[in-house]
Amino acid sequence: MAEPRKILIFDTTLRDGEQSPGCSMNLAEKLEVAKMLEALRVDIIEAGFPIASPGDFDAVQAVAETIENCTIAALARAVDKDIERAAEAVAKSERRRIHVFCATSEIHRKHKLKRAKDEIIKMSVESVRQATEYTDDVEFSPEDASRTEPEFLAEVVEAVIEAGATTVNIPDTVGYAMPAQFGDLIRYLYKHVSNIDDTVISVHCHNDLGLAVANSLAAIRAGAGQIECTINGLGERAGNAALEEVVMAMKTRRDFLDADTNIETAKIYPASRMVSSITGVNVQRNKAIVGENAFAHEAGVHQHGMLADRHTYEIMKPEDIGVPASRLVFGKHSGRHGFEEKIRSLGFTLTDEQLNEAYEKFIVLADKKKSVYDADIEAIIDQQVGLATEVWRLEGLQTTAGTNAIPTATVMLSKEGETITDAATGDGPVDAIYEAIRRITGMKLTLTDYSLRALTGGKDAQGEVTIEVDSDGRKFRARGLSTDIVEASAKAYLAAVNRVLTATNGGKKPPQP
Ligand code: KIV
Ligand code: ZN
Repeated sequence: MAEPRKILIFDTTLRDGEQSPGCSMNLAEKLEVAKMLEALRVDIIEAGFPIASPGDFDAVQAVAETIENCTIAALARAVDKDIERAAEAVAKSERRRIHVFCATSEIHRKHKLKRAKDEIIKMSVESVRQATEYTDDVEFSPEDASRTEPEFLAEVVEAVIEAGATTVNIPDTVGYAMPAQFGDLIRYLYKHVSNIDDTVISVHCHNDLGLAVANSLAAIRAGAGQIECTINGLGERAGNAALEEVVMAMKTRRDFLDADTNIETAKIYPASRMVSSITGVNVQRNKAIVGENAFAHEAGVHQHGMLADRHTYEIMKPEDIGVPASRLVFGKHSGRHGFEEKIRSLGFTLTDEQLNEAYEKFIVLADKKKSVYDADIEAIIDQQVGLATEVWRLEGLQTTAGTNAIPTATVMLSKEGETITDAATGDGPVDAIYEAIRRITGMKLTLTDYSLRALTGGKDAQGEVTIEVDSDGRKFRARGLSTDIVEASAKAYLAAVNRVLTATNGGKKPPQP
């Protein structure tokens, strides 16, 4: 059988994914995700949008300095200062890409850019030329391509290839396209752009109508050579095409798609868990490939079939994507070696110091719980990574509540060696704690979501509190874990405070692509 076509995987979890509400990551978290993407063997990591803020710039620079085996891309508008900043951020990478975008659809031309067609072409060409002064790997995206007049789109694509774009990405920016139509658009470009063979055609599909993966695969059938996607499908609004879905579709239906990727699929599940744990965005239970139910067989008839031959109801094996055979880790007598192995299998790379701290936390937790599960270990690491930029630390808390008592909380926090204690009342113990934290930190965040769940089964399970807060119109999500749910609530709020304080945009709303 002939080798299938190799499709490049361009991961934009750290840019489009991070840009979605509540998904901000700090520098340490971004580096952790970048290392995971490298282990997953994605071809290109879009590390961020350097002009957006000094924090974004630093994160792209750190990823460019750390990651050796992937191309590192930085996003820029078709504007001189954006391109200079992007070039500076990726300068240390041996494999650096500048990704320039300029909207081309009539609605964007008229209402956003207020430019005529010839001006759009001029801006696009000039920006690509400018980017080629810094690297020979330049990607251009005509934003809102799927709503652009096809003849004009072909004109733009031809002009930017002529100017030096080595990849041209066709975004379905608002998730409007239908699979057959999007495939036809790619075919149209192959037919009408005379120099198209000098470039790689990429696609970047949003999921507003739930078609991001279907559209991406239709584009592959039409000849596209790169897919832009994110872990767990994170991204603006309804998200981007999910990496795990496009990759496993190609692997499972190679017979139909005649395409494959370089992805190490056994690292998909750990990558999904890590991104969920770092962003605080849970994966829906029935999510394809990585959802908790993706390989669960409930109906008796299915179970019967599975016992006879697993292929009756299973088109992929859980081990192909790295779902651990057993989620049970071990109890308090487990060794350090086994712990290290577990950390590795979950996809984390920790320094010796981080590993020591994580191990100590594991022992403390194992003392409280009979059995420690993968989710518990992930939570420990999650907090460990978060510690890298911890500003405020919870030193202690006490609450009183009851049917006839006014809920009161006393909270002790420390910052840079100084400890501050304050007390407050509230509608309930959690509200009282949040008020005390507000008083100490001076940060008035609005709580917009609060949820509590047991992380694993059993009455000794840890309670996981996930919250969302609003800080000047920007959403931040954070989690707190403890066998005591009041403490978990306090930790979640404090993690949100720290996240806001270390936010990459320094508190100002950055320009959005
Ligand atoms: O959705 C979009 O059009 C984008 C571009 C910047 C590629 O994210
Ligand atoms: Zn996008």
